[in-house]
Formats: sequence, structure tokens, C-alpha cells
Amino acid sequence: MLHVNDINVYYGPIHAIKGISFEVHPGEIVALIGANGAGKSTVLKTISGLLRTKTGSIVFDGSDITKTEAHKIVRAGLAHVPEGRRIFLRMTVMENLEMGAFSQRAFSEDDLDAIYARFPRLKERRRQVAGTLSGGEQQMLAMGRALMSRPKLMMLDEPSMGLAPILVEQVFEIIEELNKKNGTTILLVEQNAGMALEVADRAYVLETGLISLSGTGEELSQSDEIRKAYLGG
Ligand SMILES: Nc1ncnc2c1ncn2[C@@H]1O[C@H](COP(=O)(O)OP(=O)(O)OP(=O)(O)O)[C@@H](O)[C@H]1O
Ligand SMILES: [Mg+2]
Repeated sequence: MLHVNDINVYYGPIHAIKGISFEVHPGEIVALIGANGAGKSTVLKTISGLLRTKTGSIVFDGSDITKTEAHKIVRAGLAHVPEGRRIFLRMTVMENLEMGAFSQRAFSEDDLDAIYARFPRLKERRRQVAGTLSGGEQQMLAMGRALMSRPKLMMLDEPSMGLAPILVEQVFEIIEELNKKNGTTILLVEQNAGMALEVADRAYVLETGLISLSGTGEELSQSDEIRKAYLGG
């Protein structure tokens, strides 16, 4: 579904991504784990067209999207839930969800109902401004907004960041449910390597712009290197 082939991404003189390649197959949950500053968000921004690669290619669902504009990539079925959620704090929950449907020519009430069925909390609060939601509710709103574009592939950047453990559990349950019930393919970026490897079919480890290891979630969670570096020994 997604083929990232030899991408190199720079911020001015800073070489942030150094020739990495990886893929995501239909129906998978793939995790990209790594420390602060490893380049995880840069990879997602490049896939969604917010940054450009100097080399190589990105192919999504059979089409080359390396040079495609970001809004067209969303329309093609690739949604990005950014780090820090980036919801519209002064708009209501419902308005935020409607914004998520901007890529659809016609958005249906059914889409909204489906989101409310999955996130009853958002339905209760649909007329409330998003800035008054708790951190967990804001993450659910960010995911709900992305779902409004009916994605085939959803990329999530640190969905568990800043959440209490119980909410982290809930967010990961929702991710698994979206994957298993909706059939949404997922590319998940996380610093919480333990949880990410638990839900991931496969994972890649990113270290200062390079992929240092890859394998199934199970293989990586049992690897000594990973245990020492990312799982607290
Ligand atoms: N706008 C920018 N300008 C210059 N350098 C940047 C910019 N954004 C990121 N970088 C640098 O690129 C590298 C990768 O950053 P990136 O945000 O992709 O890392 P990350 O793995 O997502 O980290 P974190 O876990 O902290 O979110 C870092 O060295 C960072 O300092
Ligand atoms: Mg990041």
C-alpha cells in the first residue's frame, strides 16, 4: 500500500533523513519507533507532502505521490494525525470533524454518525469548543477528524503523548479496533515502544535518520538491543 524508497530529507544544511526505505502492506499496523530527534515526524511529514525528499520515491496505493500536493494526498486516502494533535481549539467538536471531511466532495451525516458511534464522548461534547476537551478527548477528536476523510492508510504521530496510562490503553485499543474492524491500514510513530510493538505487525527502528533494525513486533520486543535502548532493560 505504501512504498517509501530511498528518501533523503533536509532542513537547510541538516540532513534529517538519510536514505531510508520501508513499506506498509494493506491491512497491517506498522510502527516506526525511535528516540527524540530520530526523524520520525519528518518521515510522516514527507509522506503526507508537507516536506519534500531530495531523492527516491514514495508510492501510495499504486500511484507515485513523491511530488503530489498535500491536499491531493489526503483525497487519495492517506490521512495524517500530526504530533500534538493540531485540532482547532476555538471551533466546536462538530466543526473540527466537519473540517476533516474537506477532502470529500460531499460529506455525509452517516460519516459523522459513524465517528460518534465509535467515540461516544465526542458526541456528548459535539457543541463544546475543542480547547475545553481533556488531552485524551483531544486525541480522539484528532483521530475522528482524520477518519472523516475515509482513509485507507492512517498515519499517527505519537498518539499516546502526554496521556495518563489509562488513556494510553484506550488510544491503543482504538487503533487496533480501527485496524481490525474498519480494515484501516496504520503507520504508527511512537516513543512508547513497548505499547507500539505490542500492537504492531511489523516495526522499524529509526536512529538519527537511518533505519537500524526491522522485524515483526514480537521479534523486536524480544531483541536485547531494543530492550536495552527502548524498553527500559
Ligand atoms: N523545522 C526544522 N528545522 C530544522 N531542523 C529540524 C526541523 N524539524 C526537525 N528538525 C531536526 O530534524 C531531526 C528530526 O526531527 P523530527 O522532528 O523528525 O524527530 P522525531 O523523531 O519526530 O522526534 P520527537 O520524538 O522528539 O518528536 C532533529 O534533529 C530535529 O532537530
Ligand atoms: Mg516527532
